Amino acid sequence: MQYLIGIDLGTSGTKTVLFDTKGNVMANATIEYPMYQPQNGWAEQDPQDWWNAAAQTIRLVIEKSGVDAADIKGIGISGQMHGLVMLDENGQVLRRSIIWCDQRTAKECEELTARVGKERLIEITANPAMTGFTASKILWVRNHEPEIYEKCAHILLPKDYVRYMLTGEFATEVSDASGMQLLDIRNRCWSDEVLEKLEIDKKRLAKVYESPEVTGTVTAQAAALTGLCEGTPVVGGAGDNAAAAVGTGVVEDGKAFVTIGTSGVVFAHTDEMSIDPQGRVHTFCCAVPGCWHVMGVTQGAGLSLKWYRDNFCLEEKATAAGMGKDPYFLMDQQAARVPIGSNKLLYLPYLMGERTPHLDPDCRGVFFGLSAIHTKYDMLRAVMEGVTFSQRDSVEILRGMGVEIQEMLACGGGGSSPLWRQMLADTFACDVKTVVSKEGPALGVAILAGVGVGIYDSVQQACREVIRYNDPQPPIAENVPVYEKYYQVYRGLYPALKENYKQLAAL
Ligand code: XUL
Repeated sequence: MQYLIGIDLGTSGTKTVLFDTKGNVMANATIEYPMYQPQNGWAEQDPQDWWNAAAQTIRLVIEKSGVDAADIKGIGISGQMHGLVMLDENGQVLRRSIIWCDQRTAKECEELTARVGKERLIEITANPAMTGFTASKILWVRNHEPEIYEKCAHILLPKDYVRYMLTGEFATEVSDASGMQLLDIRNRCWSDEVLEKLEIDKKRLAKVYESPEVTGTVTAQAAALTGLCEGTPVVGGAGDNAAAAVGTGVVEDGKAFVTIGTSGVVFAHTDEMSIDPQGRVHTFCCAVPGCWHVMGVTQGAGLSLKWYRDNFCLEEKATAAGMGKDPYFLMDQQAARVPIGSNKLLYLPYLMGERTPHLDPDCRGVFFGLSAIHTKYDMLRAVMEGVTFSQRDSVEILRGMGVEIQEMLACGGGGSSPLWRQMLADTFACDVKTVVSKEGPALGVAILAGVGVGIYDSVQQACREVIRYNDPQPPIAENVPVYEKYYQVYRGLYPALKENYKQLAAL
């Protein structure tokens, strides 16, 4: 038998899954780690935590499955995008990673735009300057921690640090590199022009591969730590969303997915490159060689629900623990008892600023319409509905760009909630489907590994062979106009608050 490993380095933890070549799960293991928020709007993680979690979960899946490590033919790594990992010339980590949802770099985005030029930046990187992306984080370290910047010999993305620890190679691939804002998205290579204008030395960046290409093999040292065989190939893999696309079969025009993890994403595959001139959605290279994707991002999707759970649902957490259930399962049941519109309560999910559609690091969360009749369950449902409305904003932009969506898949933690899926179907007014496998990004990169080592002919062929779909969940006709009315009120709130957010941030 032949097996493949997919590693998914998320924000709340790293999950490693061992698959057979039909996509069946032989074993999986997850290890969580903290996110540090040293200031309002800042977010950091420790790369050592990522590597420890990856190494231990690999060891665990091999042990649990009883599979002979020699039969593991390839490894793919998926990861949270945009995080900045800086290493010195000996490969030692220089500071905690500033991760994707960190919002400290508004000034550096101005610097980036001034140095490259607003239009030129969009022409080359397909996106306007973004606080979340890596380039502005690099400038921030140069501006605020010059002694660290001086010592930095290698700049990597989160998953590429795990690759380095596994293989000793400094390598990345096009889908994740797209989110650094240093890549020429059309030509799928580092942009010399952007690097020169930002005075960033190309030697510090990793070699860029297509996602299914082999980037190196497991070293003897990593083999001893993980239980893998020395020499096992590690392919490029993909940023978490591009990986989820492969894991849900979103690998051709007309297909899209919506996911609710820590962030929320609406993602559509495109064979041709397509850019929103206002930069409200991102255009990136996707994991299918020679193709792209367009995606809108809600910064605080699952993060909003987790925040709500941890601050307001302590009883539910305790009860769920007693029942051996996930607290989100109980929270779903409570939210389902509240009517659509949460008894006239709306929530804006901007806990970590927002990307799509506002591109505003200063906006923050809001409950709108609070009344003395409201209970914490109304607020809970409002959180779920607010995240859904934010994802509708992304769908509207994609539709406006002429990106065709014939099939919408739902995945991620939120996608496994039937209630949340119904909200998505009712709010988008289209069917929402799920895939049988729950392993989205991990399955996606395992498929890429299989393509890289020659088990499958192409990403599309592998998806046809491996991905199985459940029946679609259609919208409930009478719910659609009700959500629509609330969505229209929701849309009016941000413009009304825009200036107040600025004032608050300046206090
Ligand atoms: C995408 C993005 C997030 C992260 C974390 O641009 O920032 O989806 O990858 O999951």
